[in-house]
Amino acid sequence: MPPLLEVARSTQPPVSSGTAVVVGAARIALFVVDGTVLAVEDACACCSGPIARGAVSDRKVTCPRCGWRYDLVTGAADQIAEIRLHTFRTRTEQARILIEWTGGTE
Ligand code: FES
Repeated sequence: MPPLLEVARSTQPPVSSGTAVVVGAARIALFVVDGTVLAVEDACACCSGPIARGAVSDRKVTCPRCGWRYDLVTGAADQIAEIRLHTFRTRTEQARILIEWTGGTE
């Protein structure tokens, strides 16, 4: 099982919308959808736009830079299904938000 890394505290305010966190050299975007924390790489596959700043609807996030849309569970892009953001499994334990760290996002 991949190591668990604490990336945020659920008591910190910004987790209710997109929140960017940094793990090593990787940027990760956290979202809370229907009470579940979802984590994807914070770099659009199109031209590295900041996914954490995107609007979320129907469990999908729209890149704020030029509009690609990604499923927050699978990472798949609506525009080209073979293109996916790296996703991370998450857990919330007490006030800690953890991700299963499966390595870099490049
Ligand atoms: S940076 Fe181009 S769609 Fe996201």
